[in-house]
Amino acid sequence: MFLGIDLGTSGARLLLVDGAQRVIGAAEGACEVAHPHPGWSEQAPQDWVAAIRAALAQLKAAHPAEIAALQGIGFSGQMHGAVLLDAAGEVLRPCILWNDTRSHLEAAALDAMPVMREASANVVFPGFTAPKLAWLGTHEPEVFDRVATVLLPKDYLLFWMTGRRVTDMSDAAGTSWLDVAARRWSLTALEASGMRPGQMPDLVEGSEVVGTLRPDLAADLGLPAGVQVVAGGADNAVSACGVGALKAGQGFVSLGTSGVLLAARDDFGADPGSAVHSFCHAVPGRWYQMGVILAATDSLNWLSRITGRSPADLLGGLGALEAPGRVRFAPYLSGERTPHNDSAVRGGFAGLDIAHGPQDLARAVIEGVSFALRDCQQALMATGTALDQCLAIGGGTRSRYWVELLASVLNQPLDLPAKGEFGAALGAARLAICGVTGADPDTVMTRPGIGETVMPRPDLIPAYDDAYAAWRELYPSLRVLK
Ligand code: XUL
Repeated sequence: MFLGIDLGTSGARLLLVDGAQRVIGAAEGACEVAHPHPGWSEQAPQDWVAAIRAALAQLKAAHPAEIAALQGIGFSGQMHGAVLLDAAGEVLRPCILWNDTRSHLEAAALDAMPVMREASANVVFPGFTAPKLAWLGTHEPEVFDRVATVLLPKDYLLFWMTGRRVTDMSDAAGTSWLDVAARRWSLTALEASGMRPGQMPDLVEGSEVVGTLRPDLAADLGLPAGVQVVAGGADNAVSACGVGALKAGQGFVSLGTSGVLLAARDDFGADPGSAVHSFCHAVPGRWYQMGVILAATDSLNWLSRITGRSPADLLGGLGALEAPGRVRFAPYLSGERTPHNDSAVRGGFAGLDIAHGPQDLARAVIEGVSFALRDCQQALMATGTALDQCLAIGGGTRSRYWVELLASVLNQPLDLPAKGEFGAALGAARLAICGVTGADPDTVMTRPGIGETVMPRPDLIPAYDDAYAAWRELYPSLRVLK
């Protein structure tokens, strides 16, 4: 039996599978996010542990015999957060999360140093880990001076379970301190950002065993002795493991809170200038690239809040896919990563008519989000990345209209997985299987069954091409308004 633990921002999801990846059970534990100041976003690592304890108790109650046969645990984690430990292993302050923007000035200053992009292969985004530590050095120097180790969120769980201070390549890639091509800490990047190599955890591959579950903790949790703890990786990389996107040409588009267009690569390629993220994969010898937009379903949720109509209601009456509407929406409600790397820009509508209502705005929102993902596609293609097989995942794919729209905007067939497990928690369990049994990731990390392939609509592609070209004019105008 193998357990995948997906530590997200809203909580932890646990998935128990057997050696043949048959799902035995799942359980969830919730976590709150604190926003003590505008732009701040924090969680206490102890709350993650509490959420996992609660979910594990549910799983144990429902499947005692299977839990007693547990062999391995693997992880997926929200990226970039800074968990700060002192020399004794105590947590020094709440974790500063991936969506916390307090360190935007420090990020810009670090990004202006050419060595940072050269070493880390990426823009130093405000959400990444290095600028968080730079912020701490200025604003909380007494904490900064006591930092013995910086861990990523899921690494705190590895530390809790094994006592080891360790991270994996895919999560380390989001710190700005990893030499992503060479898969080792970059001494130049560390030095340029005022950190010491000794403050970095050990580096392993995501499919490697980190250690054995501490016997006292195993007894406390009611787990069998000798459970192997496997590193796991960053949520997007592990989601790619969950959908079998390991090789060049394989990838997914995710319509979640944020939007992601991800493509696996067999080699290392990077283009920090276009704000493409180039990271190590969670399996050895592979990388991936992704474009990230900050507000995908978040844009629709915002419209839902201000109109008082549910997203399903807003999209429900759209019927069959039509040519683009006249209203344009730029989804920069929280700034943007790919391709603009602009944390100050904000969103906007254009082309509003006195006759337009909520449904016209909803259509403009999903068109705008789809165009922003086409920006990501262009940025990925410019680095030589190709996407032959693309799955569509995330909450937004519940709208058939949106999926067909996105397929037409990207001019890319989109595969909708059949019902079942294919997310980050499955990816985490798959990494545990590879780590414990030594199985080859290529044979373990297969694609899910496809429920339907949604094709682009050839008759509408030219109209969407024109609308995309017009939509691209919005960003330069919004930029000067900030
Ligand atoms: C990726 C990113 C998000 C977080 C969300 O760069 O910031 O996908 O990992 O958990």
